[in-house]
Amino acid sequence: MILCFSGTGNSLYVARQLNVVIKDEIISINEYLKEDKEKIFNSNKPFIIVAPTHAWRMPRIIESFIKESNFNGNKKIYFILTCGADVGNAIGYAKKSIDKKGMTFMGLASIIMPDNYVALYDSDDRKHSKEIIRKAIPGILDIAQKIKNEKELPNKPISLLDKIKSSVTNPIFYSTIVSAKGFHTNNACISCSKCVTLCPLNNIQMNDTKPQWGKNCIHCMACIGGCPKGAIEYKNRTVGKVRYYNTEYPN
Ligand SMILES: Cc1cc2nc3c(=O)[nH]c(=O)nc-3n(C[C@H](O)[C@H](O)[C@H](O)COP(=O)(O)O)c2cc1C
Repeated sequence: MILCFSGTGNSLYVARQLNVVIKDEIISINEYLKEDKEKIFNSNKPFIIVAPTHAWRMPRIIESFIKESNFNGNKKIYFILTCGADVGNAIGYAKKSIDKKGMTFMGLASIIMPDNYVALYDSDDRKHSKEIIRKAIPGILDIAQKIKNEKELPNKPISLLDKIKSSVTNPIFYSTIVSAKGFHTNNACISCSKCVTLCPLNNIQMNDTKPQWGKNCIHCMACIGGCPKGAIEYKNRTVGKVRYYNTEYPN
């Protein structure tokens, strides 16, 4: 069973690409969060968590989701993290998330995809993004084959810097950067409410005709990346920048 969380479509794309080989079911963690569904999962095949990297770890909300979930049936669990560059010591925290669950950790693999963090950085242009996605495919298929054969994924060495990024910088990032304050719409907003639908945390409500952000934001970039009019801004950092949302579909 593939359990996937995705802000802007990269992790969903990878989940679908893995599934071309694995041929299992894909469960949307976004839906579970949005609808507050009971977190009980049954599968005879290994569990595979696919998620983006947020500050050199799985998003905190996904670490908690895994801790709170019941996994029944197959005891093997894999982690696949998409990232713009690197995942630091995400593996250490993935292992912690299944502590005392009686699961067998089968490894964590990272897949480089286009960086979606438009609130802090520039996104790649469309052509470059497509190229990054194309280059990722052989690696995804290789991982899929290993998972299909229930093999462990190879370990990558973890440096002191990796550990510092995931253990020291990550909490600083969450306490100083991650906040919904600063999201607003420009004149291009057509009040279509797509941002309300896309937000996995139900953190956006229509106030009259314009979206309003609550306090429960994880900076997943779904709203800003998925707005059909590019009408969502973050402070003044995103004005004129290319938005990113992956709408590719594996063959
Ligand atoms: C809040 C936030 C933090 C991020 N932190 C990292 C990071 O630590 N390392 C990295 O390589 N990419 C980082 N990224 C980039 C994403 O992990 C990457 O674009 C991912 O593929 C997005 O997946 P999604 O489209 O499924 O949400 C970050 C993106 C966001 C929005």
